[in-house]
Amino acid sequence: MNPKTVKDYIRSIHDFPHEGIIFRDVTTLFADARGFRMAVDQLLHGFAGARIDKVAGLEARGFILGGAVAHQLSTGFVPIRKKGKLPGAVISEAYELEYGEAVMEIHDDALQPGERVLIVDDLLATGGTAEAGIKLCTRLGAEVIGCAFVIDLPELGGRKRLEEMGMPIHTLTQFE
Ligand code: PRP
Ligand code: ADE
Repeated sequence: MNPKTVKDYIRSIHDFPHEGIIFRDVTTLFADARGFRMAVDQLLHGFAGARIDKVAGLEARGFILGGAVAHQLSTGFVPIRKKGKLPGAVISEAYELEYGEAVMEIHDDALQPGERVLIVDDLLATGGTAEAGIKLCTRLGAEVIGCAFVIDLPELGGRKRLEEMGMPIHTLTQFE
């Protein structure tokens, strides 16, 4: 039998959070020592040899993956959070959700001009969250060298949207 891949560890839950949505649940990937190690290593392989000064993680599952990636790279980690969660002075970016709008924030001193940043999250859907994250890092003068995700949902167009911005994108698996 072939060894398990990252995709094999991801659980699919039907009708969460709404009827008709198949939720791709990475908690089962994170809970498995081999699966988690494989995911973190593979996220890094997409940017092997690149100089990375900081890893930025998108709330919430990007904190778990991004923290592990930063530890592996021996870089610092920067959280990009939903509105109202960060205690210090922040800058904000609004982005579109399926219904309505949301806001992501970063501490205004979290990145220094010229720092090279890798953005990490669990899943790329429309790309709205990641685009907000890229804009926040860029507004602080940092250079986003790429974005790494475990899961791509290509039908939702996020990869195309980010690649059209000229952003290198690395994903480990996709679901239709
Ligand atoms: C999910 C996922 C990504 C985002 C992707 O997070 O973890 O961060 O959606 O969607 P997009 O590409 O269409 O922007 P969610 O907004 O559900 O927040 P959570 O991680 O705090 O649950
Ligand atoms: N975010 C957007 N779509 C999702 C899905 N199908 N599973 C998990 N997170 C998501």
